Amino acid sequence: MPGAADDARFMAEAIELSLRHLGQTGTNPSVGCLIVKDGVIVGRGVTAKGGRPHAEPQALAEAGEQARGATAYVSLEPCSHHGKTPPCADAFIAAGIARAVVAVTDPDERVSGRGLRMLQDAGIEVTMGVLEAEARRALAGYLTRQTKGRPYVILKLAVSADGMIGRKGNGQVAITGPLARRQVQLLRAETDAILVGIGTARADDPELTVRLEGLEQRSPVRIVLDRDLALPLTSKLVQTARDIPLIVVCDAPQVAVSKSGEGGQGVDALATRRAALAARGVEVLEASNLESLLFALASRGISSLVVEGGARVAADFLAADLVDEIQFYRGDVVVGDDGIAAPVTLESIPPAFRALHSLRFGPDRLDVFERA
Ligand SMILES: NC(=O)c1ccc[n+]([C@@H]2O[C@H](COP(=O)([O-])OP(=O)(O)OC[C@H]3O[C@@H](n4cnc5c(N)ncnc54)[C@H](OP(=O)(O)O)[C@@H]3O)[C@@H](O)[C@H]2O)c1
Repeated sequence: MPGAADDARFMAEAIELSLRHLGQTGTNPSVGCLIVKDGVIVGRGVTAKGGRPHAEPQALAEAGEQARGATAYVSLEPCSHHGKTPPCADAFIAAGIARAVVAVTDPDERVSGRGLRMLQDAGIEVTMGVLEAEARRALAGYLTRQTKGRPYVILKLAVSADGMIGRKGNGQVAITGPLARRQVQLLRAETDAILVGIGTARADDPELTVRLEGLEQRSPVRIVLDRDLALPLTSKLVQTARDIPLIVVCDAPQVAVSKSGEGGQGVDALATRRAALAARGVEVLEASNLESLLFALASRGISSLVVEGGARVAADFLAADLVDEIQFYRGDVVVGDDGIAAPVTLESIPPAFRALHSLRFGPDRLDVFERA
């Protein structure tokens, strides 16, 4: 019988495996599963792209007859309900698994605790909570959408040595080096959606895609907060909208009407711009505030969102208490005069967050904070 150290080692491997399909499993969580017999891994599975098949039947299929009497390590409680696939708990029972080690209970009300009970009722020994914190981090998108009805929100900021995130009227300013920028691309590849404000879209004309070799197909859905639908039709975002989804978020109608009453944008002009964007493959979404936007995104299956700025949007997300993790990059570039001040500094990270870890990418440093 494996000891606690072996359990932790195999669970770490199962969690590592689960990360492979992060951001690619639709509304299903990306789960990792190992089948271990006499200290040897005889089966591995990760939720397939698109969300099916689940990790467990794949690991069992690889293990074959060796699954009988083996231990299964799985990052999330096996499902207990008949959905589009039969319950994974039944698959463990049928294969003769002797022991199941599970990191996290599934908050899905169709499963929550039932999967574990099915295993126990069938005489399978169940050990819960092994590397739970690590698995929760790997499953953060799924768990946040299930429990809060919104995506897991990561605020990513790159801040210069003098506390700036850019320069007024200057377009994109390189604050970090190539290694850190590749790391940000990797984050995009693991995330369902990425969001910026119209200020950033206009100043930087970004593409917000993944350009890492081999991962080009993993660009997230791109979202721009743009009350007045001012995003230029010539922008790279609009020009690529037919290949990679682009959502432009404007105010809900009653807000737009009252704004036009104050001498703001007319409703007719908005309708014209909306039609022009739609004709280029852009989806226009109405939302009255950030919270309702996040609920709308979750309801269409988006479980994780990177907010990449700019200053105003980052400040709005923090003020609305809608950030779950802050990724704070510090470069040694000095922006100087006309800099745009960072909405938050290392000294002013809200007390609701605690430091998770720090990493170095060449000359740049990344500090990651998560909700305490
Ligand atoms: N270093 C970094 O990490 C980083 C990352 C991204 C961008 N940047 C830099 O940041 C600068 C842009 O920052 P910024 O503060 O000017 O612009 P921004 O934050 O990108 O966009 C602000 C705009 O977004 C709109 N907006 C904000 N909240 C909204 C909401 N809840 N709903 C709808 N619209 C909303 C605002 O419209 P209203 O005015 O109508 O409210 C405002 O015009 C650029 O220079 C860029 O290079 C730096």
